[in-house]
Amino acid sequence: MGRISNCLAEQLQQPHGTLGRLAGAVMRLANREPNSLALQALDVGGDDDVLELGFGPGEGLRALARLSLRGTIHGVDQSAIMLVQASARNRKATRSGRVRLRLARFDETGLPDESVDRILAVNVAYFWSDGPGVLAELNRVLRPGGRVSIYVTDASAMARWTFTSSGHHRLFSAGQLGDFLADGPFDAASISIERPTLRWGLPGLVGVISKAL
Ligand SMILES: C[S@@+](CC[C@H](N)C(=O)[O-])C[C@H]1O[C@@H](n2cnc3c(N)ncnc32)[C@H](O)[C@@H]1O
Repeated sequence: MGRISNCLAEQLQQPHGTLGRLAGAVMRLANREPNSLALQALDVGGDDDVLELGFGPGEGLRALARLSLRGTIHGVDQSAIMLVQASARNRKATRSGRVRLRLARFDETGLPDESVDRILAVNVAYFWSDGPGVLAELNRVLRPGGRVSIYVTDASAMARWTFTSSGHHRLFSAGQLGDFLADGPFDAASISIERPTLRWGLPGLVGVISKAL
């Protein structure tokens, strides 16, 4: 596995330095369709408070702020460069406090218990090294009746991209994503997996968790 692939995988997991800025630009374009699919499944209402896990360059936040006009949009990401890019992309909303971003990890978001109605997670579950720990955190911050939408590209496509063999990414088939999401506090019956096909025939997976009332 080449150094370039390893570097790309590292940058996708935690963009940093000059290349991190470039990684943000690439994510913005490449993740547009995944974001749109995950957002459709999330069904955000105009009053919903929302959390985005791993907001990257901030495209998802922008869409969320348009969907929830009266709610607060929270975002956590571990990359300082992504915090800068996402803040710039959502300048007005971050200034007004409608979009609130913080440097934090998936398993320790810093949000209060039962404080959000919706959680968006696009192209980030590959990096949940402690799946049950992250799911416990999502369950803690999600209100009863809330929903989580998780997009990943199917392992059958990911495995063909050399950067995914560097050990940074965990890969999922539909069955593996279902098992992964069930390995936490959420009831297996509350989890559904859709298998959309994206442009150029790319196989995607959208996992939805609906928390009981
Ligand atoms: C592949 S990018 C996806 C970004 C964005 N969701 C999108 O669709 O463009 C993954 C993001 O998750 C962040 N990330 C990875 N592991 C993390 C962790 N353990 N805690 C917080 N953020 C993390 C990275 O910094 C990066 O911005």
